[in-house]
Parts: sequence; C-alpha cells; structure tokens
Amino acid sequence: MILPRIIAHRCGGALAPENTLAGLKIAARLGCHGVEFDTKLAADGIPVLMHDELLERTTSGHGRVADLDSLRLARLDAGSRHHPAFAVEPVPTLEEALRFCAALGLWANVEIKPAAGQEVETGRVVARHAAAATGKLLLSSFSSVALRAAADEAAHLPRAMLVEAIPADWRERMMETGARALHSAARALTVDALQAVSDAGFPLACYTVNRREEAERLFAMGVSAVFTDRPDLWASAEM
Ligand code: G3P
Repeated sequence: MILPRIIAHRCGGALAPENTLAGLKIAARLGCHGVEFDTKLAADGIPVLMHDELLERTTSGHGRVADLDSLRLARLDAGSRHHPAFAVEPVPTLEEALRFCAALGLWANVEIKPAAGQEVETGRVVARHAAAATGKLLLSSFSSVALRAAADEAAHLPRAMLVEAIPADWRERMMETGARALHSAARALTVDALQAVSDAGFPLACYTVNRREEAERLFAMGVSAVFTDRPDLWASAEM
C-alpha cells in the first residue's frame, strides 16, 4: 500500500479549524494529496468529524458529542475557537467530508475514534459509510476492537493500526485486525522497530510532525508518510 507522503492532520492542520470542511479546502488548495480526520458517533448514530469526546475545546457546544444528534452538531460553531474568520464552520458528518474529499481529489485517512464503550458500533458504522464513498481512503484506529468491527462490515477497505509506541506484539495485532499499515508517534519511534516493520513490508506513518527537518530525517530513516499540522511547509510537487 502506498500512502501520500504528507498527510494534513485533522483535515487542514494548523491552517484551519480541526476536523472541518474548511480544513479540507485549504489542504486541497495547498496541493495536499492526503488528509486525516477523526470520526465518532453522534446521538442519532451518524458519524461526525470530532476528535474529543467533549465539545468544549473545539466548538461552541457543551457536553458529550455522543449526546447530541448530528443536526444539532451541524448547528454548532466549530470554527471560532481556531479563529473568528471560521465562525460559520459546522461539525461535518463523515458523509459530507468524504463527498468533499472525492470532489477535491483528496485521499482520506478516516480515523475511527470511538467514545468509550462504542468501539464496535463506531467501527461498523464508520466502515459502512466509508464503503459507500467514491474516493480513495484508509481506515485507522487505536482501538483493535473498532478495527475488527470495521473489517467485519467492509473487509475490502484498507486498515491501519494506530499506536503511540510500536508494541512488542505489533505483528500479532496487525494480523488480528488485518491492518496493512502502521501509524505511530514520531517521538517514540526507534530504528529497530522501524526496520522490523519495513522488513515485513508494511508502510509506517508518523504523527504529528510539524518541522520539515524532522520529516526529512524520518523519510531518510525509511518512514513512508507523516501527519502534519503544517502542510504549507511543502510545495505541492513534493507531497
Ligand atoms: O491519525 C494520526 C494522529 O492523528 C493520531 O493522533 O490524537 O490526532 O488522533 P490524534
């Protein structure tokens, strides 16, 4: 599997409010080929783009994402916390985001980020919506349970296992979830672990890399891709 080298983190990185359609537009304008975003379930079971279980950090709402239905989430302001210029940005649904990605020609890494206790349902529902999309995408999750549920729902969709540090049992966990790529924190990466993953033929992507020198060092070591809040550090042709 080939990953885009530069993947805009949470849609547009630092240049737009995270997990919004505005982020996708900016990523596309910068010439990104790949974007990453987080998905969890609204109260009506519709997958939406949101990183945290709580609304306060990124939106005008209060309380748990899982307690509001997707229409109410769509009426929140998910942009002003980043900058008042983005005040009209709603919390998008996964379906809207995937439609945008397809229209903009963006490859999408859909991170399944279930609220506690919703791992199976979130994995299944996100995979079902992703399977209906027309663009190219990859599912990923820190939750092996969510990845297995996604595989049960749509086995043909590629999956990546997300970890902080690469664990000793990474092979077993990838086998068990059918993952074809490994995404790990850049700060915890070791040369030996990277070598073992590369020798096994899996691409390794690192998050979150916001300095170009660090990205170049990781690429030289054999890392396939980086998630970055600063896709503007690269020219379109380099991505
Ligand atoms: O998917 C890579 C990276 O985004 C994982 O960290 O906290 O942003 O979901 P986080």
